[in-house]
Amino acid sequence: MSRNIQAIRGMHDVLPPQTSQWQRLEHAFREIALAYSYEEIRLPIVEKTELFVRTIGEVTDIVEKEMYTFTDRNGDSLTLRPEGTAGCVRACIENGLVHNQSQRLWYAGPMFRHERPQKGRYRQFYQIGAEAYGMEGPEVDVELILMTARLWRALGIEGLRLEVNTLGSAAARAAYRDELVAYLEARRDQLDDDSRRRLERNPLRILDSKEPRMQEIIAGAPSIAEWLDTAAKAHFTALTALLGDAGVPFVVNARLVRGLDYYEKTVFEWVSDDLGAQGTVCAGGRYDGLIAQLGGRPTPAAGFALGMDRVVALLEQDERVERARAPHVYLIAVGEGAERQSVLLAESLRDALPDVRIRVNCEGGGFKGQFKRADRSGATIALVLAEEEIARGEVGIKFLREERPQASVETTALVEYLRDLGIINQQGH
Ligand code: HAM
Repeated sequence: MSRNIQAIRGMHDVLPPQTSQWQRLEHAFREIALAYSYEEIRLPIVEKTELFVRTIGEVTDIVEKEMYTFTDRNGDSLTLRPEGTAGCVRACIENGLVHNQSQRLWYAGPMFRHERPQKGRYRQFYQIGAEAYGMEGPEVDVELILMTARLWRALGIEGLRLEVNTLGSAAARAAYRDELVAYLEARRDQLDDDSRRRLERNPLRILDSKEPRMQEIIAGAPSIAEWLDTAAKAHFTALTALLGDAGVPFVVNARLVRGLDYYEKTVFEWVSDDLGAQGTVCAGGRYDGLIAQLGGRPTPAAGFALGMDRVVALLEQDERVERARAPHVYLIAVGEGAERQSVLLAESLRDALPDVRIRVNCEGGGFKGQFKRADRSGATIALVLAEEEIARGEVGIKFLREERPQASVETTALVEYLRDLGIINQQGH
């Protein structure tokens, strides 16, 4: 006997009704992107490995140990994208989108990282990202943050904490790095294994450690704030002032460093306390050096990506969604002639009432079984079609969610009848 084939660890199916939460997020984001004048860009899932090594950074966790890299039939080293920014920059340079012009772009889709799977952390996960090119002032950083704040409001998500920080210019960061290494070297025997390993390769990431015994050392470490260059300081001061004026609460977290190398100046994260260890639902920042680093003309850049799996986990607490996707009308048909008629009747209703969701039985069975199914579907009403109704040119109406006597309506008057019932409004949309 052969065993059933199962999905790959860390890569999960999204099933109904959960898919409706995903659609709710996608829909809300699309509307907001439009309102802020961001346009969609669609990018390949596979890129040359070198692209990610050069952008994300050779000594980051992602590049060192999490990439799905393989050699294709031509002998080229390719990688399933672990994030979207690198591909977006590559596409913009290649297609001349950042040549003497600014861009506001967004994308959505699967990303791949070979991390240790746990709640909220997957090997195939989904991001929606937005990137803004050609604008160097803090206004666009704030715009990106406001966009996400508006998304949370649109989705009814509350209680997220906005953390912001500045990493200074690349030069300031390098100087700070040396100081930090000196401090940590002096305490090498107190560091945990992970931090000791990071010390040589990516010391800033040690500040991100969640290990309890590292907290005291981290708390005493020199702060990047003392190493900031004047331009980065002014940028950050203006950013925080504007956030305040816009009424967005935030906390400055001087230890926020991010796991990708391309950031400078602004970094930010939206964090939830309701998701356990994987609480960051959205993260981003400024990466002014990256376009030039990949061969384009120096162009300021900033953006964010939100983890769709995590946002959906927050949405899941909201029951309204499941109801919202239920059909309004369940079409019951008994008898061969009635079954065929029901398909045609449903089509004409959809033509006349495009907002009404109609499910046709199509599974055969008697009245009793079909009523049961209609009830289970969550529909508001059932339309009943049987040979005798058809002969009389009528359709039966049964109210599934309220005490109301069954009714009978002439088929020619059905559209008008359903319109008057207002069943769409009854479900709140
Ligand atoms: P990131 O912090 O690596 O940044 O990922 C952004 C978000 O994706 C995270 O905050 C999290 O919600 C989600 N995420 C990351 N890894 C996983 C995972 N294994 N499972 C589930 N969710 C995950 C970036 O990717 C940057 N490209 C963001 C950016 C865009 N910066 C500027 N522009």
